[in-house]
Amino acid sequence: MFKTTPEVGGMGHPIKRKEDLRFIQGKGNYVDDVNLPGMVYGQLVRSPYAHAKIVSINTEKAKAVPGVLAIITGEDLAKAGLAWMPTLSGDKQMVLATGKVLFQAQEVAFVVAEDRYTAADAAELVEVEYEELPVLVDPKKAQDPGAPILREDREEKSNHIFHWEVGDKQATSKAIADAPVKAKVNAFFQRCHPAPLETCGCVADFNRATGRLTVYLTSQAPHAHRTLFALVGGIPENNIRVISPDIGGGFGNKVPIYPGYVCAIVASLTTGIPVKWIETRSENLMSTGFARDYHMEAEIAADKDGKMKALRVKTLADHGAFNAAAQPTKFPAGLFSICTGNYDLKDAFCEVDGVYTNKAPGGIAYRCSFRVTEAAYLIERAVDVLAQELKMDPVELRRKNFIASNKFPYKSPLGWEYDSGDYEKNLKLALDKIGYDALRKEQQEKRKKGELMGIGISTFVEIVGAGPAHTFDIAGIKMFDSAEIRIHPTGKAICRMGTKSQGQGHETTYAQIVAQELGIPAADVTVEEGDTDTAPYGLGTYASRSTPTSGAATAIAARKIREKARKIAAYLLEASEQDLEWEPGKFYVKGSPTKAKTIQEIAFAAYTNHPPDVEAGLEAVDYYNPPNLTFPFGTYICVVDIDKGTGEIKVRRFLAVDDCGNIINPMIVEGQIHGGLAEGLAIAFMQQIDYDENGNVQGGTFMDYLLPTAVETPNWETDKTVTPSPHHPFGAKGIGESPNVGSPAAFVNAVVDALAHLGVKHIDMPVTPWKVWNILKEKGRTG
Ligand code: CDP
Repeated sequence: MFKTTPEVGGMGHPIKRKEDLRFIQGKGNYVDDVNLPGMVYGQLVRSPYAHAKIVSINTEKAKAVPGVLAIITGEDLAKAGLAWMPTLSGDKQMVLATGKVLFQAQEVAFVVAEDRYTAADAAELVEVEYEELPVLVDPKKAQDPGAPILREDREEKSNHIFHWEVGDKQATSKAIADAPVKAKVNAFFQRCHPAPLETCGCVADFNRATGRLTVYLTSQAPHAHRTLFALVGGIPENNIRVISPDIGGGFGNKVPIYPGYVCAIVASLTTGIPVKWIETRSENLMSTGFARDYHMEAEIAADKDGKMKALRVKTLADHGAFNAAAQPTKFPAGLFSICTGNYDLKDAFCEVDGVYTNKAPGGIAYRCSFRVTEAAYLIERAVDVLAQELKMDPVELRRKNFIASNKFPYKSPLGWEYDSGDYEKNLKLALDKIGYDALRKEQQEKRKKGELMGIGISTFVEIVGAGPAHTFDIAGIKMFDSAEIRIHPTGKAICRMGTKSQGQGHETTYAQIVAQELGIPAADVTVEEGDTDTAPYGLGTYASRSTPTSGAATAIAARKIREKARKIAAYLLEASEQDLEWEPGKFYVKGSPTKAKTIQEIAFAAYTNHPPDVEAGLEAVDYYNPPNLTFPFGTYICVVDIDKGTGEIKVRRFLAVDDCGNIINPMIVEGQIHGGLAEGLAIAFMQQIDYDENGNVQGGTFMDYLLPTAVETPNWETDKTVTPSPHHPFGAKGIGESPNVGSPAAFVNAVVDALAHLGVKHIDMPVTPWKVWNILKEKGRTG
């Protein structure tokens, strides 16, 4: 059933040339390119303080500026019952502040003007008087008796949001207490930001004559956003159309609903004029969904020979001022409980506490399946610390503890059922390809000469493709996804999806799935996403779920079409349906290959000459509810050289051997891996949204929040193994997020490995030259 051509092109009618990749991205069809007649512009006024009482807001001077049409404040929204909005995590968030502000850059007022320059100038003239309040920055102090209570709107007078635990606490504690060898690591996965190329924004266009609201939105989940607008705003859902055109990258940043969207919609509803709101880069970095900010502690228990027994994880999650994490309802810490990784442990226990601080809200799944990156980083760091404790090679320790390939489906002690895996095969390919033994010898020799070289390994597993719908929902909406395929009379097709590409190449790969299943050339298949008036309902694209869900739906919808095509072919060939054989592109009579009807001939007949008892047309829709998640995995190996004089880290080599099951398009998969590795490198070495003691953001521009350029980015080496998912219709697993999930540990493990002989066990990210140099200085090794 599975047919992939791994070398070039992939599934279906192969895409052989790079020129044939159909990225719609880059055509200049972004939200900021939407310019409607009479359109006006919105600008948010934001708080300079992290925690302060709003004493007064004076808008008189701003209103007097020629060209200013309206100014909306929190009090105005409160009158309409819209001052607060629900978040995707069951909390609520201020749209525009009333009473007080809770983080720097919080939205306080919205100025609407004829052009964006006037709006920006007028926003400066809105006078807000604040009275500063004590600021809570450190999440570890959130529950101290003297800590200021941030969310006075809540019944519960504490900064604690949730406690979540999974696993067997007692058995794990006993196993750890009894174990002869223990390793512990405290690892902080710093607050970082997806920083997509295009910031968030929208154009809200309410037509008073028709009562229709059209919102052009930077949305990774247009249908879910439409439903939430209908539920919160009270507009009938059939009167709302959300169009998500090209969105220059999403990475989870474009899953939540932001105050700017709501303000633009309210402004358009009240004025009847289209209103555009596009945030600046600093607004994006300072106020929209951040990622990570997990303070994690892991303890592993093992025998003296390195057999791992148990894992205990305790985490403090900083969610900022509002719990606006985008994640399935039943999982307040996302899928963090994948933290036992690909190791066969008997006992495990994992607990997470979430708290409020005076920081921007969020906790979004930045290129990861809801906290999987944090989990993979933690276990892969902890295993290296254990290897150090045991004085054992980290490869040997991993091998000793892998879930064996004959143990799948494997039930983890934290409740997941891993669908398939062959970790040993994947690791072996990586070791052979990088020349691991020779690298270790080289390292020994370099150490003798006082030079610093490190080899970092990360053998991670992911968990992607949410649903299944019985366990997974977002804001109550079950997590399935969809595809609708229509075959036109001339055999060309249109495929409409519930997902939404942000540059991942869905336009190419979904067409390839149709080609594989129906034999219609990919070039004859148009793929459309992002318009709620035309696409079937879906939950959107994030958490590498498109291939496991909508990819599966595409195959199933195509198979439904094939079954109808069989009936039409039997009628045309005057044969019984059972006597027909299928090969991609045609049905033929068993034993008589020339007695055949192509899919194009069948499509024409579906509208011109179909059997009397079969209805006209050739189309199908599928809403696919995955039976399980898929579990992609990989081995990443990083080789670094460190300059003793400056602490500068040079990534000499980086090899990524991924396994995402059967591949639709190897070139796209390769591109996904390159991009994700560049992000992983940036997180490991360069990026952090930090705050000073007053809650001032330290990473609010690209001067402070660094993006990797071609100078820092090494040449990525890639390879793959293929372990198909047994439950996915064509054996595929997601890939988009693996490189971001798997790579931070490989980078950090490499640097720690370079310094391990000096007694270094852990360095928190971002691992900067400054941090490394200070360690070397402390050890007297800078010379
Ligand atoms: O949900 P998202 O599109 O971000 O992630 P994905 O499902 O991992 O897919 C990323 C891109 O890689 C899409 O264009 C997929 O069709 C493609 N892909 C593939 O060609 N083969 C796979 N086994 C997995 C993904």
